[in-house]
Amino acid sequence: MDIFRLEDVHLTRGTTEVLRGVGWCVPESRISVILGPSGSGKTSLLRLLNRLDEPTSGRLYYRCALIDSHDVPCLRKEVGMVFQRPELFDGTVRDNILFGAEIHNIRIDIEEILRLVALDPRMLDRDTATLSEGEAQKVSVGRSIAVAPRVLLLDEPTSGLDPTATLQIESLVRHLVDALGLTCVFVTHLIDQAKRIGDSAIILIDGQKVEEGPVAEVLTCPGDPRTLRFMRGELTNE
Ligand SMILES: Nc1ncnc2c1ncn2[C@@H]1O[C@H](COP(=O)(O)OP(=O)(O)OP(=O)(O)O)[C@@H](O)[C@H]1O
Ligand SMILES: [Mg+2]
Repeated sequence: MDIFRLEDVHLTRGTTEVLRGVGWCVPESRISVILGPSGSGKTSLLRLLNRLDEPTSGRLYYRCALIDSHDVPCLRKEVGMVFQRPELFDGTVRDNILFGAEIHNIRIDIEEILRLVALDPRMLDRDTATLSEGEAQKVSVGRSIAVAPRVLLLDEPTSGLDPTATLQIESLVRHLVDALGLTCVFVTHLIDQAKRIGDSAIILIDGQKVEEGPVAEVLTCPGDPRTLRFMRGELTNE
């Protein structure tokens, strides 16, 4: 089943047409990558998927119903978001992970959450201000999955991390998909990361979807001349 379906989605910000006629089906229990240069509309597209923004025109479905027919708090419980920089609040790792679960009145096994995100249970009482960036990002993921979402949206979640922490987050995301059947939409501008993590990918350039398919196929047989220029580092939106 497709978890999201977009038909001819446009988004205008001020006088800029940020997304231009995007159509896309996002399959369940897979990692779908949104790849593209800076300013191409990746974050803008991701934000539509849990109603942080609304399309200017076009149709966007979540689980077969128009996304705006879903109540925002319920939708955001099912569709979690992990941002580029870990956004933790003051307090301990435990406080952060319990936060959403308490709001939604969900009982969780907090040690199991820590195990899923590959953090030592002894970290539960650590103040979040003392965490490394990689540890903080794992806590962000843990906080998102604590409310048992169906979907995780990840916006360049490794951009502040070193190669080791990057690989840890990537394998954690893969594990969540394989073990829990989560659906992930993973934004990156890194071609190698898209190859490592993606089951399929779309490439966005200047607000338009220019490629779609299995990652290897999209990158080896691009259909749009701009894709090759993007891959060679010769194309930006700036
Ligand atoms: N609130 C806004 N008002 C006007 N323009 C905006 C606004 N938000 C985004 N844009 C423009 O929309 C375009 C797409 O932005 P977006 O943040 O989606 O790109 P991106 O692909 O995520 O880039 P990056 O890789 O740098 O994060 C950019 O040209 C940006 O300047
Ligand atoms: Mg972005």
